[in-house]
Amino acid sequence: MNILGIETSCDETAAAVVRDGVAVLSNCIASSLKDHQRFGGIIPEIASRRQIEFIHWVVGESLAKAKMTLKDIDALAVTRSPGLIGSLLVGLCFARALSRATGKPLIEIDHIKAHLYANYLQLPKEKLACPQNRLPAIGLVVSGGHSSLFYVKNFNDFKLLGVTRDDAAGEAFDKVARILELGYPGGPVIDRLAASGTNEEIKFPQAPLSGTYDFSFSGTKTAVLYYTQKNKSKPDYSVAKVAYAFQESVVAVLTEKSLKACRKLKVKTLLIGGGVAANSALRRRLYARAQEQGVDVFFPPMALCLDNAAMIAGLAYHSIG
Ligand code: KG4
Ligand code: ZN
Repeated sequence: MNILGIETSCDETAAAVVRDGVAVLSNCIASSLKDHQRFGGIIPEIASRRQIEFIHWVVGESLAKAKMTLKDIDALAVTRSPGLIGSLLVGLCFARALSRATGKPLIEIDHIKAHLYANYLQLPKEKLACPQNRLPAIGLVVSGGHSSLFYVKNFNDFKLLGVTRDDAAGEAFDKVARILELGYPGGPVIDRLAASGTNEEIKFPQAPLSGTYDFSFSGTKTAVLYYTQKNKSKPDYSVAKVAYAFQESVVAVLTEKSLKACRKLKVKTLLIGGGVAANSALRRRLYARAQEQGVDVFFPPMALCLDNAAMIAGLAYHSIG
């Protein structure tokens, strides 16, 4: 079964063709990221206008790359929520119209759950360990808009265990990057910089929120702000060290909460998804700590950590009777 997926929840306009819920035959993404960079964050009005410009081209390109026409497609899938409403509307209306015009079924998908499904996808040249049918699992989604922990019973049954009470993990990376004047998006640059800032001198607070699976990152972010204001003009001040200490705080909380959920709920598989899943320190720490506890942890291929439509088409496969 070939499913054409469409994703337009934020600043990416994406379309992909996925066969039988696993094989990614095409994965096309147009991004308006550059248009937002000078503002230090996503401007919804600009994002939705770019979606309108890109959508036709991206969908056509995804079919061409898969060497298909609409006749070869069995079903359509689209992101329904969450996301920026102006951006979501472009993909939803496009997909609903396409479904009406072609008579093909349309499956509307939750973007956050799809981020976890990215672990099950296979890119043509990339042979990564795949969790296959290893469920139940604990799923951690960490992106610019969300930090959520799930108990995944099966692909149609996700139980939400906890969410962020303030900033999402990626949002905290982006805001700290702004404080450190590193540009937008903050995650990749902090990740790179932290590699040369290893130190034990600076420690930022973590919010354990004991007894819950919720997260909170705004206290850590504010501590970075106060530290920077106080120390910026001192001769031994190092942005790389601050980036390292901030990243360590966030990574420690994400790692320990996810593994605690695995222990308490007696689950041996941990799935990670969302843009922050690209973070090298998170990957290292989770692989090491999960191994100690006999938990297998899975990250999607790098190309599928950020927003894409292959994850939408892949998850949709499991909703078709
Ligand atoms: O999943 P995504 O593409 O969009 C949302 O659904 O939000 O995630 C984007 C987020 C941004 O906040 C970005 O700073 C973060 O993912 N990100 C990273 C890294 N690469 C992207 N955060 C930490 N380390 C990275 N290497
Ligand atoms: Zn996302």
